[in-house]
Amino acid sequence: MKSVTLPLALSGAVLAAAQYTVSSSATSNDVFDGYMSYSIEFSSFPDFAGNKSQPNTFSDALLKNIGNIIGTKPYIRVGGNTQDYALYNASLPYAINGTFDPKRSADYPTTIFIGPSYFESYSTWKDVKFTHGFNLALGANSSVGWQTLLDTVPLACKALGRGKLNWWEYGNEPDLFSTSAQGSVRPSGWNESIYVAQWLNGTKAIKAQLQTHCPRLVDNDTYGYLAPSFGGVNNRLKEPATWAAGLNVNEDVRLISTHNYISGASSPGVTLQGTLMNHTVTRRSVDAHIANHNKIKAIDPSAPPLIFGEHNSLYNQGKPGLSNTFGAALWGLDFNLYAASVGIKRVHMHMGTNYRYASWQPLTTSLTPIGTRAPYYGNIAVAATLGNLLHRPSTVIEIPLNTTTTAAAYAIYTAQGSTLTRLLVLNMNSYNTTVDGHGLDPLPAADIPVRPVANYTFIIPSEVASAGDLVGVRRLWANGSDAVTGITWDGWSYNYELDKGRPVRLGNVTVGERVVVGDGGVVSVGVPDASAVLLSF
Ligand SMILES: *[C@@H]1O[C@H](CO)[C@@H](O)[C@H](O)[C@H]1NC(C)=O
Ligand SMILES: *[C@@H]1O[C@H](CO)[C@@H](O)[C@H](O)[C@H]1NC(C)=O
Ligand SMILES: *[C@@H]1O[C@H](CO)[C@@H](O)[C@H](O)[C@H]1NC(C)=O
Ligand SMILES: *[C@@H]1O[C@H](CO)[C@@H](O)[C@H](O)[C@H]1NC(C)=O
Ligand SMILES: *[C@@H]1O[C@H](CO)[C@@H](O)[C@H](O)[C@H]1NC(C)=O
Ligand SMILES: *[C@@H]1O[C@H](CO)[C@@H](O)[C@H](O)[C@H]1NC(C)=O
Ligand SMILES: *[C@@H]1O[C@H](CO)[C@@H](O)[C@H](O)[C@H]1NC(C)=O
Ligand SMILES: *[C@@H]1O[C@H](CO)[C@@H](O)[C@H](O)[C@H]1NC(C)=O
Ligand SMILES: *[C@@H]1O[C@H](CO)[C@@H](O)[C@H](O)[C@H]1NC(C)=O
Ligand SMILES: *[C@@H]1O[C@H](CO)[C@@H](O)[C@H](O)[C@H]1NC(C)=O
Ligand SMILES: *[C@@H]1O[C@H](CO)[C@@H](O)[C@H](O)[C@H]1NC(C)=O
Ligand SMILES: *[C@@H]1O[C@H](CO)[C@@H](O)[C@H](O)[C@H]1NC(C)=O
Repeated sequence: MKSVTLPLALSGAVLAAAQYTVSSSATSNDVFDGYMSYSIEFSSFPDFAGNKSQPNTFSDALLKNIGNIIGTKPYIRVGGNTQDYALYNASLPYAINGTFDPKRSADYPTTIFIGPSYFESYSTWKDVKFTHGFNLALGANSSVGWQTLLDTVPLACKALGRGKLNWWEYGNEPDLFSTSAQGSVRPSGWNESIYVAQWLNGTKAIKAQLQTHCPRLVDNDTYGYLAPSFGGVNNRLKEPATWAAGLNVNEDVRLISTHNYISGASSPGVTLQGTLMNHTVTRRSVDAHIANHNKIKAIDPSAPPLIFGEHNSLYNQGKPGLSNTFGAALWGLDFNLYAASVGIKRVHMHMGTNYRYASWQPLTTSLTPIGTRAPYYGNIAVAATLGNLLHRPSTVIEIPLNTTTTAAAYAIYTAQGSTLTRLLVLNMNSYNTTVDGHGLDPLPAADIPVRPVANYTFIIPSEVASAGDLVGVRRLWANGSDAVTGITWDGWSYNYELDKGRPVRLGNVTVGERVVVGDGGVVSVGVPDASAVLLSF
């Protein structure tokens, strides 16, 4: 006997019945606390965080929402390409003087001076830990850059004392220094051993400055780095070779940080369905980093754990109609859970002011209004799937499905893998409700196709659920994969317009759904195309 309750809104034709047996336990591979974290573009950090006189409370509300669910507010890495352009000007009366060069980038300044008040932005969010990214590109290559390093270490360490530091970073994507599309900053002979020599030299200077200005931050508990923060696994410089060249001779690399983008904003052939809402592409993209990490562990069995210190959908800041849609939220949910399932310990999703893939826009600019964006709802769903990691650390296991490219399912285990607590199912078949799938002009009602519903059936271990038990159902929902507004998680909206990012339960979305467990632990749930469902036991 099985019973399924589909909300009235989900009354499409039910397709593709498939039945999967869920294991009662798993090998424990818990993610770190604050798994769902962010990376903020160095030049955009004052926009996102504000300063002492005008803190950005909208951003703080969005960080709190995630913290309330997962137990820890997101860790924030402040860095990106612009960290390697930033020079210090002690007499600048405001946070940042950024000059754009459209030939290098239309999205961020490539000539940057920061003033002392830049560091005020580290004081606006309570209970958040940060990584500050120092400038390696200019820092190890010009006397003004070197002086910037010496001048900013004391400012950064004073701002990040008292438990606010989550390791330092020295250099962003140095694997691309000699080939960067935004202008090369190293000669063509640039390689891993030259990089490591410069990194060791710069970090020695950072440590010496800390010793002088913030001696409490040179303890083993407090001193260390995210590194090497490479832009990818297929560039000319390779992460394992930095290890072989002695990157960690001082044992101060605390987390191996790697960066990932699924593809590029203007790469040919990129589509929502084929590139983002595609589990095969996600697996391939993540697996390459695990293979690299395994090569590092072959060199050094005690190498630190791996994180995505910066990642998002499409590099070059994302593409409208793809990176800003509900489909990208589903992609982010799948990507981050898959990453957890193969041993990535924390993910920092990258964003900057006006970026198309950003989870939110922190203020109104001439290009983009302030607001919560679709990808944020995917971040919330990641947090809800993992639950409160401080109370119950979680391990994520992928449940292999028959339909491998457009669907994925994950089981969440707590108590060292002994207890199945939740199941997440993603149906990533695209479903359009707007003309051209760009989220703007709604299709006439008569042209909107019936939304197919895939029916998933799981056999749940008897110690978790038995016949007649009720299983809670929460949905990540929008009108279609092309939607850029009207996104909800379990009926909650976090939109700026409603309550400045604080949660608001909408009255027009079905919530409180339950499915009844059938004989033999059978649980069936309908998952409409372009949506995800979380079952809680
Ligand atoms: C997966 O597909 C195979 C072959 O079509 C089928 O025999 C099997 O029952 C399917 N498995 C599930 C869990 O539906
Ligand atoms: C540093 O800031 C001062 C005050 O705004 C300005 O006059 C000076 O030109 C700046 N220096 C550089 C190198 O930008
Ligand atoms: C603080 O932020 C406000 C708003 O962006 C800005 O007007 C002000 O100049 C900033 N203060 C400093 C010291 O940078
Ligand atoms: C800002 O930077 C630009 C480019 O370097 C420079 O010309 C200008 O003088 C700077 N302004 C201030 C106030 O520092
Ligand atoms: C470290 O870098 C600084 C700045 O580029 C340079 O002056 C110094 O010689 C370097 N030291 C070593 C040991 O390479
Ligand atoms: C320093 O950077 C410039 C580009 O900004 C580059 O042309 C030069 O080769 C670099 N020098 C060294 C020693 O890396
Ligand atoms: C990097 O280049 C230097 C100078 O050409 C060379 O001595 C060194 O062996 C190279 N290192 C690697 C890892 O290729
Ligand atoms: C330093 O701290 C790391 C973890 O933060 C630990 O693994 C290592 O054993 C510590 N080393 C010493 C010498 O205490
Ligand atoms: C997903 O990506 C794979 C590999 O690129 C491709 O073969 C497959 O057709 C894609 N699936 C969809 C639904 O586009
Ligand atoms: C949704 O719209 C996009 C863009 O026009 C199109 O490529 C895709 O085939 C559409 N998907 C469906 C299921 O109609
Ligand atoms: C879903 O599939 C199960 C068996 O696999 C079936 O018992 C159930 O009725 C189906 N639900 C719907 C809504 O079709
Ligand atoms: C649901 O409610 C929200 C908030 O009041 C509103 O913005 C939205 O348009 C409503 N959606 C529908 C489909 O009525």
